[in-house]
Amino acid sequence: MKRWSQINALYQIYPRSFRDSNGDGVGDMRGIIERLDYFKGSDDSLGVDAIWLSPFYPSPMADFGYDVSDYCDVDPLFGTIDDFQELLAKAHDLDIKVMIDFVPNHTSDEHSWFEESRSSLGNPRRDWYVWRDPQPDGSPPNNWLSFFGGSAWEFDEITGQYYLHSFLSKQPDLNWDNPEVRRAMGDVLRFWLDKGIDGFRVDVARVISKDPELRDEPENPNYHDDGRSNPHHRLIHQYSQYGPHLMQYWQEMATIVAEYPEAILLFEDYPGEHLSMEEQYRLFYDINPGLSMPFNFQGLMRDWNPRSLGAMINEFQGIVRDNDRAVYCFSNHDQPRIVSRYNGERARLIAMLLLTLPGMPVMYYGDEIGMTGGVIPSDQVQDPVELREPGRGLGRDPERTPMQWNEHEHAGFSDHTPWLPLSPDVDPVTVQQQDDDSYWQLYHQLLRLRRDEAVLRGNDYEEIICGDAMLAYRRSNNEKAFEIYLNFSADMQTIGVAQGVQAIVETWPSDKPRIDYTGLMTLGPYEGVVLELL
Ligand code: NOJ
Repeated sequence: MKRWSQINALYQIYPRSFRDSNGDGVGDMRGIIERLDYFKGSDDSLGVDAIWLSPFYPSPMADFGYDVSDYCDVDPLFGTIDDFQELLAKAHDLDIKVMIDFVPNHTSDEHSWFEESRSSLGNPRRDWYVWRDPQPDGSPPNNWLSFFGGSAWEFDEITGQYYLHSFLSKQPDLNWDNPEVRRAMGDVLRFWLDKGIDGFRVDVARVISKDPELRDEPENPNYHDDGRSNPHHRLIHQYSQYGPHLMQYWQEMATIVAEYPEAILLFEDYPGEHLSMEEQYRLFYDINPGLSMPFNFQGLMRDWNPRSLGAMINEFQGIVRDNDRAVYCFSNHDQPRIVSRYNGERARLIAMLLLTLPGMPVMYYGDEIGMTGGVIPSDQVQDPVELREPGRGLGRDPERTPMQWNEHEHAGFSDHTPWLPLSPDVDPVTVQQQDDDSYWQLYHQLLRLRRDEAVLRGNDYEEIICGDAMLAYRRSNNEKAFEIYLNFSADMQTIGVAQGVQAIVETWPSDKPRIDYTGLMTLGPYEGVVLELL
């Protein structure tokens, strides 16, 4: 059974940056509670059916919450577990589903499991993490690299062994081959499902199973360090991820989630190096059809090119089956903001593409007002990636700046200096300053349409044009038909459209495109339109 099939879109909240209720400069649970009606509940609400909260668990914050020191609580910085329960109850009253982050691959080094594990070779939790002897010359057990730069191994004086950390040394990898670890992590899923959450976003899903022999990874012949490249790409990661037991471990998670009606698993997985698109995505859909699904991040990897985007969508829709939900995503807390990536107004076209494609699109807080990436002075950098590999453009602070609610001090995010500086575009880009042609209007209109029209949430997708300038497609069922025309070029485009169509949403909401009496429609540079076939 297809779960979450009514959901028009999923909205990602980065809790640190959404709304600070207690004046410490960091967003929190009560801040989100205060703003739940921003999502749903009135005509002025954005109109979104589901929210996803990035980690809010107790954490030393070395990786801003992706280093969890207790999976079953709320960090005091964000509030209490009672606050979370209240948030959940109020969201459900508004008919908003709530997804939370599940971080299975690693804990914090300050998690009690790791503290026990590292304390002695004979500790009962020793095997909960991946420990190995040094090589005879004292070097790490193999050549694996951390995603965040440098070796993936850290030597620990206490017992004279190395432990594996696919991310920071403060994020030791759990050993999923140990059934006790899997049981403990299953209990974490149950803990939150019993509280009533509606789904999990599964962090770095492919990394939890590794090569049992921990073999060295081959050099990547295509890697050249030009000072802007990601050093993690120096090797081909064929042993440190996609290990032989991956499917089994995911299935165990899904079996637990399946006990709870309507709960889903949404897996984070970027396009791989050695899997075809079909191999990669079928892995996730086939875990438990209707319940498990991957993000499709392909759009993040493509240039501004309608041919390439159109080809990707066609191929992907060919992979998605009746019970599967497409989950397109063009931005998140790890990626440059859409407006910054695509240069200002072209982002409107991406919004229209995202919100008219099949399935359940994912949007990132602030995109709906056209927020741009922040400019972070070097002495205010927070992200460990930028701190470890400065100047490569890999830092993620720019996309994590505070939500811009209004033109008051600190953009209405907080009464206090925020943990990251506001984006420089804060005036006039705020929720309060929306005119008829704003990004907010565009998102609002498209989200309403997706809510009202089941056909847009379904899988049907038929390409009409996939050229150098234009991408156009039809979304239809027995009752309704929509055609979406997107002009990716800086030139005007004239296209013949069917008789009796009506333009219902436009990238510039107050300016409908011209359709003359012969059925020729003219679209301006980077202009897009949704037509309804009457
Ligand atoms: C992916 C998350 O999105 C990212 O923010 C985090 O740093 C890594 N996983 C490690 O958990």
